[in-house]
Amino acid sequence: MAVINIDTAKSNLESTGFLDLEIDTDLDLFHEIERLKKEKNAVILAHYYQEPDIQDVADYIGDSLGLAQQAEKTKADIIVFAGVHFMAETAKILNPTKKVLLPDLKAGCSLSDSAPPELFRKFREKYPDHIVISYINCSAGIKALSDIICTSSNAKAIVDSLPPQQPIIFAPDKNLGAFINKQTGRNMVLWNGACMVHEIFSLEKITKLKAKHPMAKVIAHPECEDPVLKVADYIGSTTQLLKFTEKDPSTEYIVVTETGILHQMEKNSPGKTFIPAPPNNSCACNDCPHMKLNTLEKLYLCMEYEQPELIMDETLRKAALKPIQRMLEISKQAGL
Ligand code: 13P
Ligand code: SF4
Repeated sequence: MAVINIDTAKSNLESTGFLDLEIDTDLDLFHEIERLKKEKNAVILAHYYQEPDIQDVADYIGDSLGLAQQAEKTKADIIVFAGVHFMAETAKILNPTKKVLLPDLKAGCSLSDSAPPELFRKFREKYPDHIVISYINCSAGIKALSDIICTSSNAKAIVDSLPPQQPIIFAPDKNLGAFINKQTGRNMVLWNGACMVHEIFSLEKITKLKAKHPMAKVIAHPECEDPVLKVADYIGSTTQLLKFTEKDPSTEYIVVTETGILHQMEKNSPGKTFIPAPPNNSCACNDCPHMKLNTLEKLYLCMEYEQPELIMDETLRKAALKPIQRMLEISKQAGL
C-alpha cells in the first residue's frame, strides 16, 4: 500500500477531522476491511443513511435505537461507528474502556448543533418542575442536562412511561416533539431545533409525485414538518419505515427521509419501487451532508490506523450515561 507520512497525516487529522493518507487504488477495500475487523476484533455499526458500500461491509445496520442497543452489548474491542458524531459519542458513553472510531470526526448533525448546552441550561431553568426528554440527536452536553433520552423509534413509549400530569420539555427536535404531542395528547414544551435534511422536503413536489404515482404510498420520518407528515400514509423511524415496506402489500413508495435508507429497502423488497422524495431545491433526492462525509476509504483508513478516535471527558460521560441507561431500560420494558 502506498502510504504518505503518517505523522503528517495525523497532524492533518486535527484540521480536517479525518486521516488523509493515500490509498493504493489496487487495494480491495472490502477485503481489507474484513481482514481488519478480524485482526482487531472490531465491529462496524452503520446507520441506514450511510452510503451503500459502507452498509454492505457493516456488521450491523440500524436506526439510532438499534445502534445504541448494539453498542451497549458488543463484545468487540473496537467500535467503528459509521454514522455521525452524536452516535459515536453515545457508543463511547456506553463503552468507556473500548476504542470508538468515527471515519470522519467532522460528521456532525444540524439538529444536534441547534441545541447549544449553555442556552439549553438557561431554557431548562425556566421550567423547574419539567422532566427533560431529549432526542438522541444531541450532544453529550445536552444529554447531561436531560432526564431521559429517546429516539424516533421509542419517543412515544418514553413519553407514555411518565404520568399524564407530568410536565415535559422535549428537545431538540420540534417536529418530532410536535408529532409526539399529537400522538399522546400532551403539551410538551418544545425546543426550537430541526434537522436540515427533513425540514427541506417540498410538499408541492411530493404532491406532484403522488399525482404521477397514484398507487404509491407516502412514508415519512417524524423529523419532517407537520404539513408533510399530514400527507403521509405511514410515519416512523428508519427501521420502522423499512419494516413497513417489507410487510405492506403495496409495491410503490415515495420515501420522505434521507436516501441512504433506499439501499436496504431495495435489497429487502426487490420487486418494489422506492422513489426518493425531492427537497425544496434542484436536487432529486435528499442526502445528509454530515452522514455522507464518511466514505469507504475513510472507513478503511480509520480501521487501519485507529484514528480518528472519539475521546470524552469522564465527568461529562458519566452525566450523559444516566439518561441513556434510562432510555434503554424503558425500551426493554416496552419490548423495543
Ligand atoms: P432514526 O435513526 O431514529 O430513524 O433517526 C434518523 C436520523 O435522522 C438519524 O440522524
Ligand atoms: Fe442530523 Fe438530520 Fe443528518 Fe440525521 S439526517 S444526522 S438528524 S442532520
